[in-house]
Amino acid sequence: PLVTTGELTARAAAARSAVAAFNVVTLEHVEAVVTGAEAARSPVVLQISENAVRYRHGRLLPLARAAVAAAEAAAVPVALHLDHVRSDTLLHQAPEAGFGSVMYDASRLPYAQNVAATRAAADWAHAHGLWIEAELGEVGGKDGEPPLGAHAPGARTDPAEARAFVAASGVDALAVAVGSVHAMTTRTAALDHALLREVFGTVAVPLVLHGSSGLPDDQLSAAVAGGIAKVNVGTALNVAMTGAIREFLAAHPEAVDSRHYLTVGREAMTRTVTDLIGVIARPAP
Ligand code: G3H
Ligand code: ZN
Repeated sequence: PLVTTGELTARAAAARSAVAAFNVVTLEHVEAVVTGAEAARSPVVLQISENAVRYRHGRLLPLARAAVAAAEAAAVPVALHLDHVRSDTLLHQAPEAGFGSVMYDASRLPYAQNVAATRAAADWAHAHGLWIEAELGEVGGKDGEPPLGAHAPGARTDPAEARAFVAASGVDALAVAVGSVHAMTTRTAALDHALLREVFGTVAVPLVLHGSSGLPDDQLSAAVAGGIAKVNVGTALNVAMTGAIREFLAAHPEAVDSRHYLTVGREAMTRTVTDLIGVIARPAP
């Protein structure tokens, strides 16, 4: 059934566990996430990012409607989340397209502008029944370089600033910069767990980890133990899908039916989803 990210995250946070949230780009991603979550007998969040919408010729509805249909038919609770939204036009499409939540990303802006833009987005979101996650601006940016946001390598969330940001913006969850970086294709990153615990002790809303594909299992478990309640995974699915398809096509150079290689790509993503949920959604010991 279709549920909301707000309820899944609240339930996970109360159990000191986390809900896994996967970015989907194609229908095969959607099917793999739902099937993988069903195999793990666990709820899951399907995320469509603004970048993914751009890839789909700027149209949100075709993939969103497929995701809603997949969620409604699923044997486990599935939420639909609009991710890394920078455009107000896209934000305003969310409720009608079936989304119960959005991540509004003004993190490239200086602090005061990030607060103002996020406050406006949060007011609009709440007036339209949406749960909203936001990201705090860059902490460790270098002079003279364009800001890359809170997930620039080396960026860190300041606990006191995070607390003030949540109070001033009114968001329901906060994406924190504690050492993860987006789009890593190897699982070699390590988090600043002491900082994460400090932010967890300072901020009242659930914390979200982005760029989680770069983290090995033990780092993911420690992040959940340290207070992360929603874990965003994107690149790991593409690593699995593309690797499996590359191997299949190398072994079958005569293959032309797209279903044959998409099947192995989808199955590889399904296994990745089940495995990662097993790590992320385990209740705290
Ligand atoms: O919002 C999406 C996630 O942060 C995905 O990051 O592709 O590095 O796993 P990732
Ligand atoms: Zn992200």
